[in-house]
Amino acid sequence: MTDLYAVVGNPISHSKSPQIHTAFAAQTHQDLLYTAQLVPLDRFDSALNKFFEHGGCGVNVTVPFKENAWRYADEFTPRAQRAQAVNTLKKMSDGRILADNTDGVGLVRDLTVNHGVTLTAKRILLLGAGGAVRGVLQPLLEQQPAELIIANRTLSKAETLANDFADLGNINASELTALDGTFDVVINGTSASLSGDLPPIPASVLSAVTVCYDMMYSARTTVFNQWALDHGVPTVIDGLGMLVEQAAEAFALWRDVRPETATVISVLRGERRQRR
Ligand code: ATR
Repeated sequence: MTDLYAVVGNPISHSKSPQIHTAFAAQTHQDLLYTAQLVPLDRFDSALNKFFEHGGCGVNVTVPFKENAWRYADEFTPRAQRAQAVNTLKKMSDGRILADNTDGVGLVRDLTVNHGVTLTAKRILLLGAGGAVRGVLQPLLEQQPAELIIANRTLSKAETLANDFADLGNINASELTALDGTFDVVINGTSASLSGDLPPIPASVLSAVTVCYDMMYSARTTVFNQWALDHGVPTVIDGLGMLVEQAAEAFALWRDVRPETATVISVLRGERRQRR
């Protein structure tokens, strides 16, 4: 029987995960079927029970179910345990459900491997303090930046995160408007781009060598990346590579084989250019 995988979310029709995982499966000669499943907001557990009872081997979980998935799982990878939100579930041979969060490693791989950006010993600014940011903190801190500052509209949420991860590195919290000095890497992990908004940070955080990264991606340059370009930042990157890299990490967890990502990223970028 073909092994079944799915991405579950609400909404889900926009998801690129079926295309990405289908490409990975073809490339690595894995016999699997990966679909997108729209799950009603109050039916996450029953939908997953049904999926795993009928041949489901693993799922990716997206908005708004990452915390439901955390509660649904039986076992956690250390990084999922830290994140308290998961984007990947795997049915293990004993039937128990293992949870992982591959977002952070996806972000780090996209920055360091795909774009050659060094994070070690650098000064990093991370904007936002929601689930998306919580999910990437451990892998970012594993790169041992000189300092990681979390800046958020609601300062208390940034402070909570900085406290929760303080044992993993030099991590501090700040108001968005009270940032001092320049940063080597500025990562936008807020959901502001979704509504076309810009977190109100001073342009003084940017220098001629700053790399700006928006964890969101869209057909056009995101508002945040456009702001950075307008202030002379030479390198801006959007979250398309992170999306493919987090998928590759999930695929490796499920299938014990790591797919090659560069081709898939360039196909998706090409399709996006054509739609513009
Ligand atoms: P996600 O799962 O995408 O992280 P979330 O948990 O709702 O979503 O978090 C959204 C983040 O984006 C928060 O840090 C939020 O700031 P607050 O904690 O102050 O709410 C931030 N955010 C959303 N819209 C924003 C805006 N227009 N300007 C600045 N920050 C914004």
